[in-house]
Amino acid sequence: SHLGIDIGTSSVKAVLLDENQTLVAEGSAALAVDRPRPLWSEQDPEAWWTATEAAVAAVRAAAPKAWGALASIGLSGQQHGATLLDAEGRVLRPCILWNDGRSGAECRELTERVPDFTKRASNIAMPGFTAPKLLWVAKHEPEIFAKTAMVLLPKDHVRYRLSGDTVSEMSDSAGTLWLDVAGRRWDATLLDACGLSERQMPRLVEGSEVSALLSETVAASWGLSGRRIPIAGGGGDNACSAVGIGATRGGDGFLSLGTSGVIFVATDHPVALPERTLHAFCHALPKRWHGMAVALSAASALSWIAGIVGASGDIGGLLARAEAFVADPVRRAHAPVFLPYLTGERTPHNDPHATAGFAGLTAEHGAEAMAYAVIEGVSFALADCLDVLVAGNAAPTSCMLVGGGSRSAFWAQLLADATGLTLDVPQGSELGAAFGAARLGMLAAGGTEDAVCTKPPIKRSFAPDAGQKDLLAERSARMRALYRA
Ligand code: XUL
Repeated sequence: SHLGIDIGTSSVKAVLLDENQTLVAEGSAALAVDRPRPLWSEQDPEAWWTATEAAVAAVRAAAPKAWGALASIGLSGQQHGATLLDAEGRVLRPCILWNDGRSGAECRELTERVPDFTKRASNIAMPGFTAPKLLWVAKHEPEIFAKTAMVLLPKDHVRYRLSGDTVSEMSDSAGTLWLDVAGRRWDATLLDACGLSERQMPRLVEGSEVSALLSETVAASWGLSGRRIPIAGGGGDNACSAVGIGATRGGDGFLSLGTSGVIFVATDHPVALPERTLHAFCHALPKRWHGMAVALSAASALSWIAGIVGASGDIGGLLARAEAFVADPVRRAHAPVFLPYLTGERTPHNDPHATAGFAGLTAEHGAEAMAYAVIEGVSFALADCLDVLVAGNAAPTSCMLVGGGSRSAFWAQLLADATGLTLDVPQGSELGAAFGAARLGMLAAGGTEDAVCTKPPIKRSFAPDAGQKDLLAERSARMRALYRA
């Protein structure tokens, strides 16, 4: 069997697959995010480990026989987080996460320090990425920076706990801004600009290669004593989601509605359009890359409004009321407009200070109108993301819809209408990035890409409804004008 572990932002998920990729068992454990100051977003790396242990314990208990035949582990994780270790491997401070916006000034500084920064990094410096966070630590917590012997991304820290080895892979490392994305190796000049060197970086492998072996200590505590279980390089959660749905060839794309909203497109060559905030990263498979555009608040914006209107326990019911409300086109035309920038924005604005807001509220508007405005605003943000990918010659030729938000047919149709994309909902996509991570484990254990990285059957397709185009174009123009204002 093959274990995939995804270190997400809101939970750690573990899945156990048999040789036919049938799900044998799954487990998960929730994670909290600390926001101690405006713009800050942090997590204690110890919480990832505790949650990993809990998720794995659930898998183990559910399928003891398959567990005994464990043949590989694959790791996926939230990208960009800076986990700092001292020379003894101790964590020096809470991890600064992908949706932390504190390092805007450091982004400008980095770009000044290295005149060809965006060309070297293939990406513009944005606060979510790892490099500016280290510059922030150097400036504001110099004693911690001085002790930093190793910088690890979230899933690579879990790998360190599993194996004792400091290793990363290309897809996640591309999101640090220290990688030569085309050459798939660390860039000494980019590291030097942050006062770092390759000694503080993990060794690099491809996502589908063996990165390390499960340590004897962890193997023993997991009832696998004496077994040498390979851990695949794995990938950033977006690259792993892509592997999980077989988005491995040029033009294969997905739109994901998770905490963040992502459009991902696999390419067989490096892409770049830094000035438009295109994320130009390596894929988790050799000789492949991907373009990506990231809206920082997506399904999280719906959870946010649901919490405020007291509908957290029944988001499906809230969406049904929203759908009924805008079934009348006049009401839809007069519904409020929402700017979805609850945690700043990356694509297309690169603006950590961007904020959210409703405009156009009237006395007749209630929770359902606001919920509609929220999912519409997120859909428009994803349309902005698509524009950037198209401009960067990384338009998807096919696009699957994945992530928690994809459970709503109403939202799926709205996304198709807002982006003009036909969105295919695959079967079994709820397993997400953890499933892709398990697939990378299968590859590391000797599987072939053709056999392992197949595309799932499509459950349902949402094609854009031409009848909605003019109304949505008018509403998205209002949303964009509102941001500019
Ligand atoms: C990608 C990004 C997010 C996280 C979410 O650039 O920041 O999608 O990977 O886990």
